[in-house]
Amino acid sequence: MNAHQHARVLSAAALSSDAFSGSVDPSAFKLSMRQIASPVGIITTREGDLRNGLTATSICSVSMEPPTMLVCVNRNASAEKTIAASGAFAINMLADAQHPVARLFSTPKLCPEDRFAGGQWSELVTGAPILEGAVATFDCVVQECITSGSHNLYIGRVIATRSLDQDILLYRDGAFRRLESIN
Ligand SMILES: Cc1cc2nc3c(=O)[nH]c(=O)nc-3n(C[C@H](O)[C@H](O)[C@H](O)COP(=O)(O)O)c2cc1C
Repeated sequence: MNAHQHARVLSAAALSSDAFSGSVDPSAFKLSMRQIASPVGIITTREGDLRNGLTATSICSVSMEPPTMLVCVNRNASAEKTIAASGAFAINMLADAQHPVARLFSTPKLCPEDRFAGGQWSELVTGAPILEGAVATFDCVVQECITSGSHNLYIGRVIATRSLDQDILLYRDGAFRRLESIN
C-alpha cells in the first residue's frame, strides 16, 4: 500500500460512524435546524377512498434522469402507512397564502378528511391528492424506501408535474414566512 492509499484507508476509518460513539445534543441540533428557512409542502397519498397527508419541509430533488424527488416521513405519521401501502405520493409545494393548509396538515391526530377541507383538491396520474393553486406539484411513484432513524426516506419517480409562477411559503424558527426580495 502506498502512502496515498494508506491515507485514504485511515480517513475512511476515521469517518465511519462507529468511530463516534456519542451524538450531538438534540437541543443543539434543533436550534441549528430552526435557523434554516425551508419551503413548505404537503405530501399527500391515497389508498382507495382513504386520503391522507402531512405538512413537510424535508423535501428535495434527487436526480434529473430519471426525474426523482426525496421526502423524509416520520414513521409515526399517520400518512406514512398509506404511502407505503399505495406505493405513491404527491408533493404539493405551497404558495404563501396557503399557510392555513400547512396548519391543517401539521395538526396532530386530525381526522384526514378534515385536513382536505382546506383548499381544492384534484388528482393527476397516481390518484394522490393535488392541491389547486400550489406553486409546484409532483406526482410520484415510490421507487425506493430507506429507513433512517425515526424516518422513512421515500425516493419517488416523478410521473407528472405542474407549476405556477408565485411566491412559495417558507418556514423558519417555528413560524411560517414570506419571501422578500433584497434587490
Ligand atoms: C413546518 C413543518 C414541517 C414539517 N416537516 C415534516 C417533515 O419533513 N417530515 C415529517 O415526517 N413531519 C414533518 N412535520 C410534522 C408533520 O406535519 C406532523 O407530524 C404530521 O402532520 C402529524 O400527522 P398525524 O397526526 O397524521 O400523524 C412538519 C411539521 C411542520 C409544522
